[in-house]
Amino acid sequence: MRASKTSGSLIAISLSCIIIFSSLGRAQEGQAGEGAVNLDARDLIGFPKLPVPTDNPLTEQAILLGQTLFFDPILSADRKISCASCHQPEHGFASPEARPLGVYGRRALRHAPTLYNRGYGDRQRWDGLAGSLEEQVLLPIEDPNEMDLKLADAVQRIDDIPEYQAAFQANYSEGVSEVSLAKALASYVRSLTYGDSPPDRFIYGERTAMSKAELAGMWIYESKGRCWQCHSRPNFSDEKFHNTGVGVIDGKPEPGRQAVTGQDADWGAFKVPTLRGLTETAPYMHDGSIETLAEVIEFYRRGGNANSHLDPIMQALELSDAEANNLLAFLRSLSKRKAMPAESKGK
Ligand code: HEC
Ligand code: HEC
Repeated sequence: MRASKTSGSLIAISLSCIIIFSSLGRAQEGQAGEGAVNLDARDLIGFPKLPVPTDNPLTEQAILLGQTLFFDPILSADRKISCASCHQPEHGFASPEARPLGVYGRRALRHAPTLYNRGYGDRQRWDGLAGSLEEQVLLPIEDPNEMDLKLADAVQRIDDIPEYQAAFQANYSEGVSEVSLAKALASYVRSLTYGDSPPDRFIYGERTAMSKAELAGMWIYESKGRCWQCHSRPNFSDEKFHNTGVGVIDGKPEPGRQAVTGQDADWGAFKVPTLRGLTETAPYMHDGSIETLAEVIEFYRRGGNANSHLDPIMQALELSDAEANNLLAFLRSLSKRKAMPAESKGK
C-alpha cells in the first residue's frame, strides 16, 4: 500500500476505506481474475444468475471501491451529500423522506427508491431514463438537485487523492475516469442483492417457512388482489411501466415514462418497484406520497386513482378487512430474509 499523502482536510477517509485500500494493494500483486466474486455463492433462491456486463466484471475490490465512493460526500458540489445521504442503508437504501435532501438544501424531485436487486433490473429510475446501472450511477452526480458536480470535477477530486488514485489504477487500466467511476459505483449497487425470504423458501419447498396469515395473503396476492400481474416474481416487479394513478391531480397524470419515450400510452406510467425490503423503505411510491403499507393496500382496494391513462389491470378490489390484513402480512414477510454474503450496510 502506498504511503498516505492525504492532508486530512481533503476528506475523512474512513476506516473501511483503509481496509479497502490494503486489500486492493494485495490484489494488485495477485493473479489476474483474483478477487472475482463467486456468483454461484450469491445465488438467490428462484433468481437467475446475477447479470454482469462483460466489460465490468464483479470483483470484491470493485465492490469495495464503489462502496467507499458511495459513502463519500466528495462527489457532491458542497461536499456534504453522498449517495448514502439519500439511499440510506438503514432504510433499505431508500430515502426516509418523500423527496430527499440534495446539495445546498435543494430536494430531489422524487422519492429515492431502494437499490436492492437493481442488478437484476433492466431500465433504471422511476421513469426508466437510464438503460444500465453504469449509466444511472453518474446521473445523480450532475443532477442540480442532487449532487450538482460536473463529472470532470468529480474525476479530478478523486484523482487528487493518492489512495483513490492507487485503488483505481489497481482496478482499471485507465485509472480514474468517468467510465471507471461508473464501473466502481455500479459494482457496489449490483452487489446489493436481497432474497431468500419466507415466500421464496416456501415456494421452493420449505413448507413451514410461512405463517397461516402470510400464506393466506400470498393467495390474495396471486389471485383477486391482482398484484402478481405487475409485481411478478422473482423480484416482485415486471420491470415495466404502469399507470396506477399515483400523483394524479384532477384526473390528470404526471408525464412519468412519457417524458422519456414521447409515447402517449406512457402518460403517468412509472416503473414497478420491487416489493422486497418494504418494511425498511417507507414512504412509498415515486413521490413518497403513501406513508404506510396499510395505506398502500387501501389505495389498491379502491383501484388506484382514476385518470385518462389508468392501466386496465387496475380495478377496485373486493377484499374483506381480514383479507387485506393477510395481504399486509404477506408483504411484510418479503422483508424477512437472510443477509447475503458480502453484503455490507456500510461502515
Ligand atoms: C439527493 C438524493 C440522491 C442522491 C445524492 C443520489 N440519489 Fe440515487 N436516486 C435518487 C432519486 C430521487 C432517484 C429516483 C430518480 C427518478 O426516478 O427520477 C434515484 C435513483 C437511483 C437509482 C435507480 C434505482 C431504480 O430503482 O431504478 C440508482 C441505481 C441510484 N439512484 C444510485 C445512486 C448512486 C450510485 C448515487 C451516488 C453517486 C446516488 N444514487 C445519489 C436520489 C438520490
Ligand atoms: C398495474 C400494475 C400494478 C398492479 C396490479 C399493482 N401494482 Fe403495486 N405498483 C405498481 C407501480 C407502477 C408502482 C409505482 C407507482 C408510482 O410510484 O407511480 C407500484 C408501487 C407499489 C408499492 C410501493 C413500493 C415502493 O417501494 O414505493 C407497493 C407496496 C405496491 N405497489 C404493492 C402492490 C400490491 C400489494 C398490489 C396488489 C394489491 C399491487 N401493488 C398491484 C404497479 C402495480
